[in-house]
Amino acid sequence: MSFIKDPSLAAHGIQKIEWARQFMPALGEIRKVFAAEQPFKGRKVTLSVHMEAKTANLALALKEAGADVWATGCNPSSTQDDVAAGLDALGVPVFAVCGASPQQYTDHLRMALEFCPELIIDDGGDLITILSDTDPQLAKDLIGGCEETTTGIHRLHARSAAGALICPMMNVNDAKSKHYYDNKYGTGQSVWTAIMQTTNLTVQGKCVVVAGYGYCGKGITMRAKGLGANVIVTEIDPFKALEAYNDGFRVMTMKDAAPLGDYFITATGCRDVITAEHFPLMKDNAFLCNAGHFNVEVSVSDLEAAAVSHSPRRDGIEGYKMPDGRTLNLLAEGRLVNLAAGNGHPAEIMDMSFSVQMLALRYMLENSASMAPGVYEVPDSIDAQVALMRLRAAGLSIDALTKEQQEYLSGWEV
Ligand code: NAI
Repeated sequence: MSFIKDPSLAAHGIQKIEWARQFMPALGEIRKVFAAEQPFKGRKVTLSVHMEAKTANLALALKEAGADVWATGCNPSSTQDDVAAGLDALGVPVFAVCGASPQQYTDHLRMALEFCPELIIDDGGDLITILSDTDPQLAKDLIGGCEETTTGIHRLHARSAAGALICPMMNVNDAKSKHYYDNKYGTGQSVWTAIMQTTNLTVQGKCVVVAGYGYCGKGITMRAKGLGANVIVTEIDPFKALEAYNDGFRVMTMKDAAPLGDYFITATGCRDVITAEHFPLMKDNAFLCNAGHFNVEVSVSDLEAAAVSHSPRRDGIEGYKMPDGRTLNLLAEGRLVNLAAGNGHPAEIMDMSFSVQMLALRYMLENSASMAPGVYEVPDSIDAQVALMRLRAAGLSIDALTKEQQEYLSGWEV
């Protein structure tokens, strides 16, 4: 029982899964302990995270910890069909196919929920939407779950405020061991790997416009600067804008930046950041890329309406011909470029994020009886445990406060 593109791709997928596994030592430590303790024994878990090699290791870690895991993706374009086949062959039923239509994508999510999970791992909030709104009968055994990304957390908070959240959810995104590294360094590296691989062009000397100076935006700008680009930041938050300015970047509105950019990268979690008013101002051959969770940051419908025609120019690049002869290049259909046109974050980064997922999900299982529907922060002890495991894996040591230092920091006398 599964829904994948081609089971014959399994061997290649397993090779990718094994490669990532070696570089996920913190998750490896947890895997060993949980395999012995079996904290999820007999528990039904649905996981919806970008279906690639690091995610496969998370699914396998849950299975080894005793869970009955069904897995799906969290974006119609980011599924790697070979990894899906590999994970399926390793005993985790997978329901995901790359290039699914919006309806097929939702169908795959629903299939992965059909065994009525007790626990979920969501990335962007699509599982919770199905369980709450369209198929509440599938939530009959639901205890709670974890959410992986900023956009999913926004959606959970909105549901919670409206009294529409059906279970407790752990805010994995806001654990320090997750967003300080995954959103910043993971996105910073993987966005550029994907753009450079997809375009096969230089970054140095180019003008890069980054919308949003949050965790993802900071990583993307930092790496753009390191690659020799001239970087412009657009923001709606005055403090973030000032931070970008003080970090040495030009700050302006998207309208002012539109004629200057060679590469545009959105990382806001918002919608309609690049729209019809900007396309007429852009250079010929400008590149439009999105790193935010949903494909609503670059308005693809506006782009289609503005263009006289469009056609593929290279794998992952669609060229939109403007009436004045310019072509604007949209990468990965406006979906998050590092996953839809790349391999996602490096394994060492996802080692931390998915270690938090494992420990937070166990915390949820052990404490759910006393947790009302709501969004819960990951306890500091879990956060610190993951950071220390990762430091150990990197061969790094840090100092510990002496008793005298602790007293000094908690008192008022010099
Ligand atoms: P964040 O909340 O730290 O940063 C977002 C920034 O965008 C904020 O500073 C906000 O003021 C700014 N912003 C909002 N609307 C804007 C607009 N219309 N124009 C300009 N700036 C605007 O969020 P974070 O963690 O950086 O995440 C951003 C998005 O990236 C989310 O959708 C998140 O789910 C996604 N994400 C993507 C990853 C990937 O692998 N591509 C990894 C992690 C998160």
